[in-house]
Amino acid sequence: MCPATTDLKILVTGSQGYIGAPLVRFLKDRGYKNITGLDAGYYVDGLLYDVPGATDVSYIQKDIRSLTVGDLEAFDAVIHLAELSNDPLGMHNEANTYAINHEGSVQLAERSKEAGVQRFIYTSSCSAYGIQNGESIKTETSPLIPQTAYAKCKVLVERDVSALADDSFVPTFLRNATAYGPSPRMRFDIVLNNLAGLAWTTGVIRMTSDGTPWRPLVHVEDICRAIACTLEAPADAVRGQVFNVGDSDENYQIREIASIVADVFPGCTLSIGDGGEDDNRSYRVSFSKIHETLPAFRCKHTVEDGAVQLRDVFETIDLSRERFEFRAFTRLKQLQHLIDTHQIDDAYFRQTVPEAGR
Ligand SMILES: NC(=O)c1ccc[n+]([C@@H]2O[C@H](COP(=O)([O-])OP(=O)(O)OC[C@H]3O[C@@H](n4cnc5c(N)ncnc54)[C@H](O)[C@@H]3O)[C@@H](O)[C@H]2O)c1
Repeated sequence: MCPATTDLKILVTGSQGYIGAPLVRFLKDRGYKNITGLDAGYYVDGLLYDVPGATDVSYIQKDIRSLTVGDLEAFDAVIHLAELSNDPLGMHNEANTYAINHEGSVQLAERSKEAGVQRFIYTSSCSAYGIQNGESIKTETSPLIPQTAYAKCKVLVERDVSALADDSFVPTFLRNATAYGPSPRMRFDIVLNNLAGLAWTTGVIRMTSDGTPWRPLVHVEDICRAIACTLEAPADAVRGQVFNVGDSDENYQIREIASIVADVFPGCTLSIGDGGEDDNRSYRVSFSKIHETLPAFRCKHTVEDGAVQLRDVFETIDLSRERFEFRAFTRLKQLQHLIDTHQIDDAYFRQTVPEAGR
């Protein structure tokens, strides 16, 4: 690591989210001293557990769409996670998805460049690959066939922000696999976390579909490591580059993930149906490029040890079914709650200061 790197002034947008909270702690543990968080605070009334340093970073409660060039002048690097974060969320309100995820992100990158920010790391998604469509393994140069507004926005941001790359502005696009693993700002709406929560609280995983679609998975901490390695890489190695983030051995069919989880949770029964999926996404992904270009990056976790880790956390905090089902841990439920209680307006701008985490 370049010795000066840990002195970088870093803005993490989405710092109160599922990846953002552990990312801030990860960077602090790696020696970074100047980290500022920014978040609209949509999900901060959900705190699955507290760990020192996980949620105590100072954060600015602000919408990315309201950030000015002046707000960004203090930073050397922006790590941009703040978006509506998954495919079902994008389907909930497509117009707001485009306004935040596409226009908001591109505007943030443009303003960052104007403010003199040098590094811009964008958390894209393997969802951009969409469907298998003949090719057996997707690489960064495979055609993108996004199936949802969420995934289409990822493709548009990559296109528009890569056009800003030059000698002084270094954007990098990390196409993350589907994340799993514990986070204080937990999400139970992503596949492994959801199956593990079901296994713990009900002892039953009942799939109506046949679970044949492919999905690459990556531990949340390995995403944090990829972000740090990108920040620490020479500018020429990452300028305008796209990297799939994960490990080529961690592509699974959904039914395999369910079976691994069922084996890890004692007494859990598993039944797999024969129906099709509601969700037509299926893709297997190669992660060779990130391993070749950023030799410091390695995934340290597998789905199996992630499931064990989740079981240990659930045991420690004695996770109840009520808590597993708490609205803030399912992003769509929480947004609906914020709308119903007038805490956000029709465009999802906050109308109230968020409640404290619990
Ligand atoms: N979790 C995954 O499996 C995964 C996989 C691939 C890519 N990603 C991407 O990583 C990023 C973070 O994902 P996550 O799982 O931590 O999501 P998350 O929903 O837990 O966190 C997103 C955070 O951004 C904030 N936010 C949303 N819109 C905002 C706005 N307009 N202004 C300010 N803050 C806003 C939210 O309050 C939230 O705290 C997202 O861009 C997501 O698309 C996630």
